[in-house]
Amino acid sequence: MDDIEFTAVQHQTWAELYARQVPRVRAHASAHYLAGFDLLQLPAEEIPTLAFLNSKIPPATGWTVVRTDTRYTDSDEWYRFFDRHEFLITNYMRPWEELDWTPEPDMFHDIFGHLPFFMLPYYAELQEMFAPAYLAAQTEEERDTIKQLAWYSTEFGMIREDGEMKVFGTGLMSGGDEFANAAEGRLNYHPFTIENVMGHDKVLYEQHRDLYVIESIDQLKTELARYFDPIVERARAG
Ligand SMILES: [Fe+2]
Repeated sequence: MDDIEFTAVQHQTWAELYARQVPRVRAHASAHYLAGFDLLQLPAEEIPTLAFLNSKIPPATGWTVVRTDTRYTDSDEWYRFFDRHEFLITNYMRPWEELDWTPEPDMFHDIFGHLPFFMLPYYAELQEMFAPAYLAAQTEEERDTIKQLAWYSTEFGMIREDGEMKVFGTGLMSGGDEFANAAEGRLNYHPFTIENVMGHDKVLYEQHRDLYVIESIDQLKTELARYFDPIVERARAG
């Protein structure tokens, strides 16, 4: 889909969210996110155009940004786009009443939360691990586990950096109250391992009480590979 016209209210919502979230991420976000954020240079006052995003991200990592009218793309479709290194951003913007927390991913989440990371080749490599495993999975249980592992790492994970806990997940980056709760130590934190995450029910429509902490992006890749590699190898062996 080509670029579309957003309303004045939607641009204003973007500007307000951007103004609220930037000081928070500067203080508490992972250095990886901030490195990508500084490279991407999102506009503060208006929703970025697709042309802008695709002038920055494909040269950096080979990923392309694609807009969709769908508000919540289902996982099978999502991972087919992922497999082509295409990142979907929705045209939906949260209403003003949900400025500080929205249960549904909106374009502010998709763009502000996710896209800075897609300026970093080693982060793109992390994301590129998911689709091959998801598409090779043979049972609903395997697919659910893969989604759950994504949810508690790239969407809602924390990371240890220089002895401090920083915010890593994109769903936290774009959400005001939940970001503050996560950053200021008000939740329960557990080490990110396959076993810890598999034992936990995914929370979709309320804020999290339990979060998982990675030691580094490399540790996360190693941990994910422990679950993903056998699935991918089994499919290859056919
Ligand atoms: Fe997301």
